[in-house]
Amino acid sequence: MVAVIDFGSQYSQLIARRVRAFGVKTQLVPYTAPVLEIKKTQAIILSGGPNSVYDDGAPHLNRKILNLGLPVLGICYGMQIMAKILGGRVSAGEQAEYGPTAMMSSGQDKKLFHGLPKQSTVWMSHGDLVTKLPRGFAAIARTEHSPIAAMADKRGKLYGLQFHPEVEHTQYGNLILQNFIFSIAHCRKDWHPHNLVEQKIKEIKKTVGTSHVISAVSGGVDSTVTTALVSRAIGQNLTAVFVDHGLMRKNEPEEVGRILRHLDCRIKIIRAEKQFLQKLKGVTFGEEKRKIIGKEFIKTFQKATATIRPRPKFLAQGTIHSDVIESASSSTGQAAQVIKSHHNVGGLPKNLKWQLLEPLRDLFKDEVRELGEALGLPKHLVWRQPFPGPGLAIRIAGEVTKEKLKILGEADAIVQDEIKRSGLQYEFYHYFAQLLSLKTVGVAGDQRKYAYPIVVRVITSSDIMTADWGRLPHKLLAKLSWRITNEVPGVVRVLYDITSKPPATTEWE
Ligand code: XMP
Repeated sequence: MVAVIDFGSQYSQLIARRVRAFGVKTQLVPYTAPVLEIKKTQAIILSGGPNSVYDDGAPHLNRKILNLGLPVLGICYGMQIMAKILGGRVSAGEQAEYGPTAMMSSGQDKKLFHGLPKQSTVWMSHGDLVTKLPRGFAAIARTEHSPIAAMADKRGKLYGLQFHPEVEHTQYGNLILQNFIFSIAHCRKDWHPHNLVEQKIKEIKKTVGTSHVISAVSGGVDSTVTTALVSRAIGQNLTAVFVDHGLMRKNEPEEVGRILRHLDCRIKIIRAEKQFLQKLKGVTFGEEKRKIIGKEFIKTFQKATATIRPRPKFLAQGTIHSDVIESASSSTGQAAQVIKSHHNVGGLPKNLKWQLLEPLRDLFKDEVRELGEALGLPKHLVWRQPFPGPGLAIRIAGEVTKEKLKILGEADAIVQDEIKRSGLQYEFYHYFAQLLSLKTVGVAGDQRKYAYPIVVRVITSSDIMTADWGRLPHKLLAKLSWRITNEVPGVVRVLYDITSKPPATTEWE
């Protein structure tokens, strides 16, 4: 097992995630964790952190941890705290380094950098740096502004990296971590997503005891995995509540219902399409749609849960680690306790009568997907692309009506189907249909016909902050156009969106 000692970096969980992905058990522990606990592990990674080691009240490291004889890898703040404790010096750099940086290894290290070329790109994010090595250490790499970009002690046990090997922009980050875990620390592969299921079940049981829990199922990956997990832990002490707002993709509500019925928990399915459509009548702007859907959802959810007996004490939510990071308060660097907004419209009310149960809070999306698979959920469901909470309502530009929802649902199903058939589904972040509330003319069977255009939107992105439009083969575009106009009554025109983000957004709203 590897202990990742957390000094408050937003990447601490990511380090743990990377090591787990190698199949090695990993635990993120606070920097205050007792030495005896750390002693039981095989290797230690010291995370980065937002502080300077000389700040008042900066997180410290018990020196005994460095004397345990275990291999230690300090990353950024972790390297600096190690250097300070062992008699080196840390100073404010003349120039902070952020982002991709060229690193030159000195060639002195044969273990941590085994298999790396002499020069590679690493990702830096620091103001301070180690300016004097502790005794017995050598600098094993430098960058333009960091003469000691990496250090190693001569026994080959203690290592420090000024850069972040855990982020994907560090070219050989995974290799460096693997070298540390396997060649230096000799860890065994002892972790599998099934272990995570067992661990999570234990934690859930301990937290909720015999209390009753409710979960809000939106049909998305996170809430479905949460519900499946909690049901595995406490069975009939869970009631899963699914509000079908009528804005989901084709056949999705049926599939959610099917999955819930297979779980060992109580379920409550509320069909509320009419009610949501009524509220959305005449509304044309995305933001307004979001607010209405969010408000209506809360109202419906509260009404549906009011009669559940025994009274629920906990609300299970699918908050995942990226939700926590994104809402972390920037002033303190502390992960803020947030309520995941069900529809990104402000979330559930402040006066919640339930305590939150967030079993996925420390997991990344791909870990959640693996967990979902380990729980036996269908592969296509757990690996499917993201879908906005307000659903098809923000994929209709203009007013939402039952007719438009039906047309869009059918067209979207064709886009899903064709892209999957082409084998290109993993190349793109999103691929879907949008509908424009603008009737244009076409001819069908010698008759002029006015109908809505469908826009096909396919994008590539890694984090959706920026995105590019997908270059689909012409043959596939032709097939999409042909099938949509032939198979979906009421569509005579198909457009392809060739705009990146920015300036355009993903959804047309
Ligand atoms: P935009 O359109 O801003 O979307 O480029 C970025 C990502 O966010 C999704 N999205 C939403 N997800 N509630 C959600 O849960 C929303 O109101 C919402 N609006 C946009 C969008 O699908 C894309 O993945």
